[in-house]
This record gives sequence, structure tokens and C-alpha cells, in this order.
Amino acid sequence: MGNKITFTDVMADQKLHQQRRHDLSAFERTFKAEITAVHKLTEVENLFRIQIIDPEDRNNFTFQPGQFVILELPGIGEAPFSISSSASRHGDLELCIRRVGSLTNFLFRLDRGTHVGIRGPFGTGFPMEQMHGENILLIAGGLGLAPLRSPIAYVQENRNQFNNVDIIYGTKDPSQLLFTYQYDMWRADDVNLHIIVEKGDLSWKGPVGMITKVLQDIFGHRETDYFQKTYAIVCGPPVMFKFVCKMLNERDIPMEKMFVSLERKMQCGMGKCCRCNVGSTYTCVKGPVFDYWSVMNMKEAI
Ligand SMILES: Cc1cc2nc3c(=O)[nH]c(=O)nc-3n(C[C@H](O)[C@H](O)[C@H](O)COP(=O)(O)OP(=O)(O)OC[C@H]3O[C@@H](n4cnc5c(N)ncnc54)[C@H](O)[C@@H]3O)c2cc1C
Ligand code: FES
Repeated sequence: MGNKITFTDVMADQKLHQQRRHDLSAFERTFKAEITAVHKLTEVENLFRIQIIDPEDRNNFTFQPGQFVILELPGIGEAPFSISSSASRHGDLELCIRRVGSLTNFLFRLDRGTHVGIRGPFGTGFPMEQMHGENILLIAGGLGLAPLRSPIAYVQENRNQFNNVDIIYGTKDPSQLLFTYQYDMWRADDVNLHIIVEKGDLSWKGPVGMITKVLQDIFGHRETDYFQKTYAIVCGPPVMFKFVCKMLNERDIPMEKMFVSLERKMQCGMGKCCRCNVGSTYTCVKGPVFDYWSVMNMKEAI
């Protein structure tokens, strides 16, 4: 009796197969793309503007904030990178990349005009429309601002759909701050921007400490009903989102209204190579975006 297959099971299975076919077609298709600009952000991070060359493909390329692409450098290798630009720009992508290993070291030697391959988009995105009409906390630690920049762009472009908007961003020191040239623009869109570093330097005039310190300060000035109408997107190292989400939960923001981006070492991006598992979950297919309730129920996720 326990093994009886219901109509719902069959339909769910079909939906999974359809999704899988869609994922596979994204996997098999490599778009020819061109690096159209490179901006130095810090000593180890660059912003690469990468445009799908064919105008029709470029326009048809759609994604959700939070999804990622696989960047191919022919003869060198490939790696996943979060899309760091607005979804409204379609296949005119920006990737914020840290130089860490063989592929990224090679990439940092390339200039505009170089051709590369792009596959995707892959994975799950942040459910931005579900958050309409509510307050939103956009929280990033370190390189976590790379995946957060796409939801930030969404909020900017749809500012009237959200109530209070706070961006909270922390790094180890001021030299690691990303996208400093955008801060004034974000503030101009009626966004509360809070920046904190763990260790200041002579030029630093802002607060020093952890992201949780900023949250404590903000929450001290918010009414109780603020928390009942708030979503949070948290991107950064697991140790950071563990403390941040715990704090949000203590303020009665439900775990289902907190979304995190869980990045694991990936290779195939399609549930085949078993590089990205957390327990039995393939984070490349089921993630990288999860609600915190799911993360808490995933063994070894944090
Ligand atoms: C969904 C997703 C989104 C991502 N988004 C971004 C992004 O927006 N920006 C960004 O900069 N990065 C991002 N990354 C990380 C990026 O894909 C990796 O850093 C990638 O491996 C870089 O390739 P590489 O060849 O330069 O480095 P690699 O040579 O693969 O080395 C990467 C790092 O892993 C270590 N490493 C290498 N091999 C091993 C191993 N066998 N065991 C343990 N450690 C090892 C290296 O020491 C180095 O620190 C993302 C990853 C995922 C999964
Ligand atoms: S990256 Fe290969 S299974 Fe997820």
C-alpha cells in the first residue's frame, strides 16, 4: 500500500522531467559571448561585463536574480558564477569574480574583445515577486554582494513594490568593499545603506564590527509589526548567515521568509557529478537559493 503511485506522484514526476529537460537544454547550449568591459573592484575582484554575441539569443536570455551561469574558457576550463547584473539586461551580463585559482587567474589576464562561452542560467532564484508589498532586508558579507547585486537591481527597478528597504553589507576591512561607486546611487533610491567593516583603517569613518551589530542597531528603532512584514535575502559565508538568520528568527521573522544562497564546489551544474551535494541534495539543481527553513532541515548545510 505504502508504495502505491498516485496521480499526483505521476504529475510531479512529469514536472520534474520537464524541468530536467529544460535544465539539460540549458546545459547543452553554449552561447558565444564577448567580454565587453573589465572593471577592477579590489585587488582580487573584477567586474566582467560579458555580452552574448547573437542579438536574438541575448534578448531571449532570461534569468531570475540569484541564478548562476557557467563560464567556459576554451582550452582552460569552466566554473559557475552568480549573475551580478539586473535581470532586465537579459544576456548583457555582469559577473563579479574573485581571482582564486587556475581559471580565474587566466580570466584576469584577458581583455575586452575576448570571446568566451556562457551556459545557463542554472539553479533557483530569489522569489522577488512574493516579497512585493513587504519590507526587505538585503544582507551580504564579503563576496556575497556579487549574488545580492541582482536582487538589489530588481528592488531599485521596482522600488514602489517594497516598503522599507535596507542593504546591510560587511567586509573584513575597507579595502575589500565591492561596488563602492554604487553606494550613493542606492541611497538615492530611498534605500537605507549600512556598511560595516571588521577592522577599520585610518581613512575609515564608518562603524566597525560584525553585520549582526548593524542589525541590532536597526532593530532597536523598528516597531514590532515591522518584523511581521519583512523578508530577508542573505548572501555570504555560511558562518555569517547562520548568525544573521538566528538573529532574524529571534525577531520573529519566519525562516520561510529568509532566503540564502548556498554555494558549494560545483562542476557539471546539472545534478550529475555529485560535487555539490549537501547530504542527498544537489545544490546546483535544487539551489543555490534556499529558504532558511530548508537549509535548517538539510544535514551538513551549515
Ligand atoms: C553557484 C555558484 C556561484 C558562484 N558565484 C561566484 C561569483 O559570483 N564570483 C566568484 O568569484 N566566485 C563564485 N563562485 C565560486 C567559483 O565558481 C569558484 O571560485 C571557482 O572554482 C573558481 O575557479 P578557479 O579555477 O579559478 O579556481 P579553482 O582552481 O577551482 O580553485 C578555487 C578555490 O578552491 C580551492 N580548491 C581548488 N580545488 C580544490 C579541491 N580539490 N578541494 C578543496 N579546495 C579546492 C582553491 O584553493 C581555491 O581557493 C560560485 C560558485 C558557485 C557554486
Ligand atoms: S555540480 Fe555536478 S551535481 Fe551539482
